[in-house]
Amino acid sequence: MYIDKVKQEMKIPEKVRIFDTTLRDGEQTPGVAITPEEKIRIAKRLDNLGVDVIEVGFPAASLGERKAAQEIKGLGLNAKVCGLARVLQEDLDAALDSDVDYIHTFIGTSPLHREYKLHMDQEEILTKAVDAVEYIKDHGIIAEFSAEDATRTEFEFLKNIYTAVEDAGADVINVPDTVGVMVPASMRQLVGDLKEVVSIPISVHCHDDFGLAVANSLAAVEAGALQVHATINGLGERAGNTSLEEVVMALMATYGIKTNITTELLVGTSELVSRITGVKMPPNKAIVGENAFAHEAGIHVHGVLQKAETYEPLKPEMVGHTRRIVMGKHTGARAIKSKLDDYGIEMNEDQFCTLYDQVKKLGDKGKMVTDADLQALAETVLGKP
Ligand code: KIV
Ligand code: ZN
Repeated sequence: MYIDKVKQEMKIPEKVRIFDTTLRDGEQTPGVAITPEEKIRIAKRLDNLGVDVIEVGFPAASLGERKAAQEIKGLGLNAKVCGLARVLQEDLDAALDSDVDYIHTFIGTSPLHREYKLHMDQEEILTKAVDAVEYIKDHGIIAEFSAEDATRTEFEFLKNIYTAVEDAGADVINVPDTVGVMVPASMRQLVGDLKEVVSIPISVHCHDDFGLAVANSLAAVEAGALQVHATINGLGERAGNTSLEEVVMALMATYGIKTNITTELLVGTSELVSRITGVKMPPNKAIVGENAFAHEAGIHVHGVLQKAETYEPLKPEMVGHTRRIVMGKHTGARAIKSKLDDYGIEMNEDQFCTLYDQVKKLGDKGKMVTDADLQALAETVLGKP
């Protein structure tokens, strides 16, 4: 395959860590609020799924956030339990009081953030970042540092702040594409350039404002990023974050890169998060959408019934999904016959032609023919009550 030729020219890692931020950035989805009890349910599921880090929230934000973080930590999960904190003393203390294993601390670095939000110059920002990382490390906790809006920050400053936090003891540097302005080529270049100046693992956090979060995360991995931030169902601020299910399957199935995710649990986890947050997935959502493994066109259905790989890039069971053959105006005779076989319905050729015409007529009226519709039509054709 062409991808294999491309892979040989890249320095792609063997394994990528998944940092899940469903309970933090995902909860920042407009209109979504998750109670501490619901956070615990989701955290347990994320742990079963195999994510490496669960960012459980922003402990400084509320008592509920701290309570949820403490309770999740008390579950003794395999995943590291992480709290978000600005580089402020009160935020860092709130995270430490929540007893998390890991603190993700951040400060804005771009000219826009410096001028309009923080009213600080580069030097002040760098000092605060270094102090925060040192404070976290003095408490024996894993420290990840994010330069918020990294992708709109001058590269010189980005290099300085990331090398300074590395010297201060940071374990991971994270590169947030806070407003999703990157394209794969620029992300690949940026991570490659950062790899020249830091030796600790590089992580990326991509937003989906232009629908490129997954592609940009993959490009970062192509350049050597070892960790990807993602959310279940791509939840998050505005257009959301990198979708965990999409990036994991693309890493594993397309590049052959390992993660610790048990992929068979992806659909169930997506459904749980969708139920709790009330954010429904569009039917055509990759990997977990209702139609992700549904086939309607006669040519496709024929292909899939002969050999599933003709029109499926991966087996639905691999992600906990099931294949569906959908009836409509594009349906071919073979698909209808296969459904009748599944139901154990037998009919002669004339009866089948009548049934086939009826399915097509309904399709032409813009209707989808459900399994129940097909069974009812078949019974009418066979003259059964
Ligand atoms: O998008 C972003 O920049 C963030 C930071 C807190 C890392 O979510
Ligand atoms: Zn974010």
